[in-house]
Amino acid sequence: MTRVVMLSPGYPAEMALFTQALGAVGAEVIGVGDQPAHDLPRPARKGLRHYEQVSLADEREVVARVRTLSQQVRVDRVECLWEPYMVLAARLREMLGAPGLGVQQTLPFRDKERMKQVLDAAGIRTPHHYAATTVAEVWRAAEHIGFPIIVKPIDGAGSMDTFRVQSAEELSQVLPLLRHVPRVSVEEFVDGEEFTYDTVCAGGRILFENICWYRPRPLVTKEHEWVSPITMALRDIDADHLQGGRAMGRKVLDALGFRDGFTHMEWYRGADGEVVFGEIGARPPGARTVDVMNYATDNDLYVRWAEAVVHGRFSEPVDHRFNAASIFKRASGVGNITGISGLEHLMAEYGEHIALVDLLPMGAPRRDWRAVIVSDGMIIVRHHDLGRTIEMADRFASELQLQAG
Ligand SMILES: Nc1ncnc2c1ncn2[C@@H]1O[C@H](COP(=O)(O)OP(=O)(O)OP(=O)(O)O)[C@@H](O)[C@H]1O
Ligand SMILES: [Mg+2]
Repeated sequence: MTRVVMLSPGYPAEMALFTQALGAVGAEVIGVGDQPAHDLPRPARKGLRHYEQVSLADEREVVARVRTLSQQVRVDRVECLWEPYMVLAARLREMLGAPGLGVQQTLPFRDKERMKQVLDAAGIRTPHHYAATTVAEVWRAAEHIGFPIIVKPIDGAGSMDTFRVQSAEELSQVLPLLRHVPRVSVEEFVDGEEFTYDTVCAGGRILFENICWYRPRPLVTKEHEWVSPITMALRDIDADHLQGGRAMGRKVLDALGFRDGFTHMEWYRGADGEVVFGEIGARPPGARTVDVMNYATDNDLYVRWAEAVVHGRFSEPVDHRFNAASIFKRASGVGNITGISGLEHLMAEYGEHIALVDLLPMGAPRRDWRAVIVSDGMIIVRHHDLGRTIEMADRFASELQLQAG
């Protein structure tokens, strides 16, 4: 029997499904998190044998509590799929002598400058980049790189505080907006299409690969509220135009020494076919993309992940059966949802190809579309044929509308 400490087993919401899966594949799971036990989502509670409420931000407290635990029972693994506590998880592994990423191996996943330095050394094509802590350093980097550039936090998420800057004039306007960010990454702006390369690994072997196509690019979806962002898991990951990114992804995992669990990489493909690294996390993609993968494969990647980390293998193969796309909707207007239009005719037309409809109900307050990627709700469609999937996703993007007032 494998005993697993799972950090933050109930938050964000997807963590509860991974926790439940660990329990389902026979692990004994000890949860360590911020939430009071009675607030844990039901799937998390189902997966847990025991729970310790701590303040995750208080590293010393967590280390002490887990040390005490480990004096009472043997702990085999420490898992954490939530970005802010990856380094804490690594520290706990080192303390316990548990397998998995240590602190030094985790840092490149958390620090976008360090990440690119490691990958540069491995000969991977990253955007030309500099780290900067002062305004003067940003200017110097801009001079070296040449406009257009991207300026973003070293440890950013969700495209927050990320700016495309075209000229010196624009840079003067953007710099004050970054005053609260202590360290930024200044990068060459890479034009092109944006994809993911996601894996589940065990013992350094890749058991599952997934490629999603972002439509449009995440930065564009962050700039315009009217856009409905689409994330499309592609069925045919053997397609020619994806092989450069896939090969890069494998090299990146190697260079970073990643062996067990989920990874989520983003990469760019230029019009000329050049492939450029974007970023990588030692965790699954967010925004319910694991659900998208599940619809694309008719499988359960929460459970497959748990098998990979607990047993080192999958009990069944995972095949790409469909293209599956999530479409996130943002209502027009402010306040509460007052209307939903276009859903009925799209449902009538696409019926069985619509895998999920999860929109805010009438009267519900709108969510902050800048902070919550899912925004005011989502649809998932799927189809064997890519052209049909694109058509459906685009029509949900344009014809389904939510109003607020
Ligand atoms: N060098 C670059 N060239 C072109 N576009 C970029 C570059 N860096 C970032 N972007 C754009 O900004 C978006 C966000 O950047 P990045 O993925 O590095 O940060 P993030 O905030 O961690 O993203 P996520 O939304 O995946 O959490 C990218 O998806 C891309 O659209
Ligand atoms: Mg990103």
